[in-house]
Amino acid sequence: MVCLGNICRSPLAEGILKTKLSDKFFVDSVGTISLHEGKKPDKRAIKTALNNKIDISSQKSRPINNSDLENFDKIYCMDIDVYEDVISKAKNEEQRQKISLFLESAGNNHQNVEVPDPYWGNMQDFENVYQLLDDACNKIAHKLEQQMITEKN
Ligand code: 4NP
Repeated sequence: MVCLGNICRSPLAEGILKTKLSDKFFVDSVGTISLHEGKKPDKRAIKTALNNKIDISSQKSRPINNSDLENFDKIYCMDIDVYEDVISKAKNEEQRQKISLFLESAGNNHQNVEVPDPYWGNMQDFENVYQLLDDACNKIAHKLEQQMITEKN
């Protein structure tokens, strides 16, 4: 899960997706900037997650690195700027294929493929982002579990 600062959207997406996948999956989140490196998620993201019974308070922000593009099978980007930034870091076609817009992968229509950044907003913006991510995570989790079954057979 990739956003800009790795303190609002992608930590929420990480926390939510983890609750929906079996333990065969490893989920992590990163940012494209290192401004908040080592910091916990934004207080409002932690509170919003807690309101929805998820604890993301032990996560720490870190910037994306070259090993992530190599090690992870799927790289989900929260908005188009993030997507373009991550695509520009890909070294080959195999890496480019892993990178997608999170909401597009979840099946949203083309008008609605960016997770709005709640950083400059209020608690309602965080809750709205939470609900958007929760809905998309349901769809992604289902897709990933299905792919896992298909790959096994
Ligand atoms: P995020 O939100 O990308 O969802 O973590 C932001 C966090 C920090 C900043 C911008 C967006 N910032 O400018 O510091």
